[in-house]
Amino acid sequence: MLDYGGPIMSGLVRNFEGVVGPDSAEYALIQQIDATNLPRHVAVIMDGNGRWARRRGLPRVEGHRAGIDAVKSIVEFAARLGIPQLTLYAFSAENWKRPIDEVNTLWSLLKEFLRREYPTIQEHDIRFRAIGRISELPESVREELLKVEFDTKANERMDLLIALNYSGRLELVDAVNQLLSERVRGPIGEEDLASRLYTSGLPDPDFLIRTSGEFRISNFLLWQIAYAEIYVSEVLWPDFRGLDFLEAIVQFQKRERRYGGLESRSAETLS
Ligand code: FPP
Repeated sequence: MLDYGGPIMSGLVRNFEGVVGPDSAEYALIQQIDATNLPRHVAVIMDGNGRWARRRGLPRVEGHRAGIDAVKSIVEFAARLGIPQLTLYAFSAENWKRPIDEVNTLWSLLKEFLRREYPTIQEHDIRFRAIGRISELPESVREELLKVEFDTKANERMDLLIALNYSGRLELVDAVNQLLSERVRGPIGEEDLASRLYTSGLPDPDFLIRTSGEFRISNFLLWQIAYAEIYVSEVLWPDFRGLDFLEAIVQFQKRERRYGGLESRSAETLS
C-alpha cells in the first residue's frame, strides 16, 4: 500500500510528493486547499467525450478512450487529497439508446480500466463499488466489477463508486419497491428511503462537478444531491486533469454552505 508523502514535507503537499513539482500550477493550488474543509463526497458527471472526438475529426469512441486518462488522473488526485468518497457517472440508463458499437466500446473500456488500474486501486487503498441496475449489464462486465468489488472491500482510504446503467429516478423506484417487498408499513421517513438507495451508508455528495459547460443534472443522484454545491467546468472530460480538479476544490472551499438556514455550516454539523 502507498505511503503518502515523506517525512520532510507536511500537509496535503506531502501526499503529492513525486507527482507534482514544487514549481507547478498544481502545487500552488494544493497549497491553497484547506485539508480540514474538503468535500466528503464528490460526484462527477463526465461529459464532453463526443465533442472532444468530433473536434479532432475522430470517432466518438476515441473521446471515451481519451476519457479514461481523465478518470485515472481524477481518481488519483482525489485519493491523494484525502477525499473519502468519489462517484463517477459513466453510463446512464438512457445511454443504451446510443449506437451498439459505442455501447460495446464503453463496456470494453471499462473492463480494460478495471484490469489495468487494479494495482493502482489497491495501492491507493480504494474501495470500489458499482451503482445502478448492475444485474442488467453484460455478464463479462458484471464479473469484472464483482471481482474488483470483492477484492477491495476492506480498503479504507476512499470509496470509488462508478455509476453504470444508472438513473436517479429508477434508483428511487427501486428503493420504493424494496420497501414494498419488505412490507414496511407507512408512513415512511427520509431515512427509510435513503437507506435503500444504492448509496446507502455513504454521505450524500456535497460537491457535484460537471464538465463540458453543460448546466444539467441528467438524472444523476437526484435524491442525494439535495444540498450539493454544483460546479460546472468548461473543460471537456478527456482534457480534465488533476489541475482542473484542484481548481474545483478551491472553488468549493469558497462557497458558503447554509442548508436553508441563515448561517454557514460545515457538513459535519448537519443533522
Ligand atoms: C459523456 O460524454 C460520457 C459518457 C457517456 C461516458 C463516460 C465514459 C468514460 C469517461 C470512459 C469509461 C469510464 C470509466 C469509469 C472507466 P458524451 O459522449 O455524452 O459527450 P458529448 O456530450 O460531447 O457527446
